[in-house]
Amino acid sequence: MAQFLFITDLDNTLVGDDAAMKQLNAKLLHHRDTYGTQIVYSTGRSRTSYEALYQEKGLIPPDAVVNGVGTALYIGEQEKPHTPWSERLQEGWDRDRIQAITAHFSDLTPQPASEQNPFKISFFLSPEIAPTLVPELERQLKAAGFTVTIIYSGSLDLDILPIQANKGLAMSYLQELWQVPSNTTVACGDSGNDRAFFERQDERGIIVGNAMQELLEWHHANPSPHRYLAQASYAAGILEGLNHFGLI
Ligand code: GLC
Ligand code: MG
Repeated sequence: MAQFLFITDLDNTLVGDDAAMKQLNAKLLHHRDTYGTQIVYSTGRSRTSYEALYQEKGLIPPDAVVNGVGTALYIGEQEKPHTPWSERLQEGWDRDRIQAITAHFSDLTPQPASEQNPFKISFFLSPEIAPTLVPELERQLKAAGFTVTIIYSGSLDLDILPIQANKGLAMSYLQELWQVPSNTTVACGDSGNDRAFFERQDERGIIVGNAMQELLEWHHANPSPHRYLAQASYAAGILEGLNHFGLI
């Protein structure tokens, strides 16, 4: 057994089965105490919404949290987002001008203000309209000189983010910061915004058994020996995957 970097989505991945999460948490805590394994949460939730879940579910204190689909990084106990990460996101991003272009699309319903942040513009969008709207939105943004990250998740949420922001890039940043090789990193997820975890090369990936169709389709179309689709759901699926990779 040795140290690894454990990075997980929260809703419907780590969180979803309280009893299984308790079991997994005990193992993770033990691993952190014994080997120095780092525990990172990477969620689409805003900081405030994350903090509510943290309290409600009694999550174990993480070594870092990535909020807003890679748009804010909080390290350790720090209360302010990690500045070097925020600075990276500024490149090519102009929130006001990008938002003005989204106003051409009446089918985009803005998410509540609490889920918006300086590097994240989020909407609700129906799955019937998404396949035609998203490419046209991308085209209009490109024509105006903006190359951004657009992620459709959960057959409901559309996030527009800086080109440097997604869960996978934030994971790579932490690997560099903490000097953890990609082959001793394991990332876990269930939905579209987790795909960026799994698009890289050497990381071990765990897709929980309850994953959404949007992620499963991509997984089957892009097989990798480093990615494991668990039978079990939520935290039990994570545990199954960690055992599969011989990490715990
Ligand atoms: C979370 C966030 C939301 C985002 C979604 C998908 O639900 O609250 O803003 O659109 O994740 O990334
Ligand atoms: Mg999720």
